[in-house]
Amino acid sequence: DSTVTIAPAELGFTAVAKSLADRVTVPTGYTVTVLYALGDPLASGVSAYANNGTDGNFAQRAGDHHDGMSYFGLAATGTARDAASNSRGLLVMNHENISQRYLHANGATTTGGVRPEAEALKEIEAHGVAVVEVTRAANEGAWSYVQAGALNRRITPNTPMTINGPVRGNAQMRTRFSADGTQKRGTINNCANGYAPWGTYLTCEENYAGYFRRSATDNAARAAKQVTALNRNGVSQGAAGSYGWSTVTPADSASTVYSRWNASVIAGQPADGTGDFRNEPNQFGWVIEIDPYDVASVPRVRTALGRFAHEGAWPANFVAGRRPVYYLGDDSRGEYIFKFVSATPWEAADANSANRLAIGDKYLDSGTLYVARFDASGSGTWLPLTFGTGPLTAANTTYSFADQADVLINARLAGDVLGATKMDRPEWGAVNPKTGEVYFTLTNNNAAGRTLANADAANPRVYNDPKGAAAAAQRGNPNGHIIRFKEAGDNPEATSFMWDIYAFGAGSDLDATNINLSGLDATNDFSSPDGLWFARPTGVSGQERPLLWIQTDDGAYTDVTNCMMLAAIPGTVGDGGARSLSISDGTTTRTQGTFVGRNPGTQLRRFLVGPVEAEITGIDSTPDGRTIFVNIQHPGEETTTGFPTTFPSNWPANQATASATGRPRSATVVITKDDGGVIAL
Ligand code: FEO
Ligand code: CA
Ligand code: CA
Ligand code: CA
Repeated sequence: DSTVTIAPAELGFTAVAKSLADRVTVPTGYTVTVLYALGDPLASGVSAYANNGTDGNFAQRAGDHHDGMSYFGLAATGTARDAASNSRGLLVMNHENISQRYLHANGATTTGGVRPEAEALKEIEAHGVAVVEVTRAANEGAWSYVQAGALNRRITPNTPMTINGPVRGNAQMRTRFSADGTQKRGTINNCANGYAPWGTYLTCEENYAGYFRRSATDNAARAAKQVTALNRNGVSQGAAGSYGWSTVTPADSASTVYSRWNASVIAGQPADGTGDFRNEPNQFGWVIEIDPYDVASVPRVRTALGRFAHEGAWPANFVAGRRPVYYLGDDSRGEYIFKFVSATPWEAADANSANRLAIGDKYLDSGTLYVARFDASGSGTWLPLTFGTGPLTAANTTYSFADQADVLINARLAGDVLGATKMDRPEWGAVNPKTGEVYFTLTNNNAAGRTLANADAANPRVYNDPKGAAAAAQRGNPNGHIIRFKEAGDNPEATSFMWDIYAFGAGSDLDATNINLSGLDATNDFSSPDGLWFARPTGVSGQERPLLWIQTDDGAYTDVTNCMMLAAIPGTVGDGGARSLSISDGTTTRTQGTFVGRNPGTQLRRFLVGPVEAEITGIDSTPDGRTIFVNIQHPGEETTTGFPTTFPSNWPANQATASATGRPRSATVVITKDDGGVIAL
């Protein structure tokens, strides 16, 4: 909507320089402190984290790899919700994965192909989700987390959950754990997130596929259709499964904590899957709703939102009488952007209901899932994943769809046959609170994933990174870009949209004609955008937003700088005008007819640089925007040299005292402005 005024025009901080230092750096006038780190105890009586590989009981400690995160306000005392609180709340966050060696005294071990049970249990429980109480001392004092918070909770891969929506009870969901396909055991690889206005958290399962073992001859034991589905979702025949948890012996016939990670067909077990875990991969790749205000609540799997490598779920259209929408990304190379449109028009009173998961049933268990096609004209179409329409029928030759549950379980296959656009790894989305325009990071793609032959207007760059040691290996789109779209009629329920590219990642010294197409300079050059978040509108005059935050998860520019976070005032779709782009794969050059925004005059500035070998991911603020919480994921995850004596990163031990050392830990940091003002403005 061109009548929307974007103000203020100026960001209110001085850019942080690119850095390889092993610390979190923020602008002058801001303070950063460490709040909640891997292993921190979440219940009274749990010992402080020794951080030497001897700690256990991660079901009562902070998990690893802090990722997507939301802040939910609490009343001054007790456990009641107060969404407006700026001084006491719950941080709910994903613990996506683990830096395995740091969890054990001398790194992970395997003996005769078998993982020790104690190690495997520690690794399993360090995954999942955490609910942790945080409070601010009086007079805008320091933030701290509350070890004995009444609502503190770990949800792990072992926490029982209920399957809701169209897939509940489907034959493809039956396992030894849930013979009727209505229950699920826990969650894994929770990447980004979402929330609902009634005060719940949405956790999204991303790279679940890699955790499963599947025997080298498993395809032969299955129907062809099952093999097609497993392959399309990356659950590969012959895979050992990350971390080898299914090798733990003796087999856990009662608990299924370990054997469930073996998705192979076990000879002699029933064909319906109730005697083994052949269907276990179908229980992952979903969006799950958690009520953080009820420590006893059982999380609900919202299957209407489809199954794929879910990055996150970003809400829109919670307007009385309109149908709520969630934008969804599938984070793998060449995967799709989706949206879910609820069947139920929004009633504003539901935001204050205390019966939160029942409200979730009302809005999240039925609706229409769509997948995006981006056309070279600059327009796009949302294609419905509705069984029986178009190619989504039993007669389809790519995959014979049986019913709506089959379409949702195999949303990737549905996207294939619908002709959706294969993107350069859709990571986070964000909805501009002022215009309703939707942004998605497309973090990067490699040489195999993005070639000159398959480049398109929405994923237009194919180039050699001139800094790449092996230039050929750097082809693809190593620095990524950020796409955005405007729904027809500014209505999130629309089935068409206009799109452009907001910004291309690049080093500022790279070729401005072919690579640094957004004209980035030393104050804002970045690579591999991942996290994305529009700041909460504060509703205070003079603090108008939108303010867009961008976080990076990079490997292509880390010779120059650690990963970072930038702030932007981003303009609107189409403000860069149309242009054509000449692309090259290093051998052949062609002109790509395309529509590319460049946003001259809009602001983009680096706010934070993280420690060594860390990604920046996960962000929220208090409602007043004066405190932000940011997650620092997997510092020191790559370099193994020196372990267990020395570490590539000593963060966060060295944040307050630069000379301090210790095993690196993923952690949440708090950032405040020294004058008490709104962050970044
Ligand atoms: Fe877990 Fe999509 O990054
Ligand atoms: Ca991510
Ligand atoms: Ca990433
Ligand atoms: Ca990561």
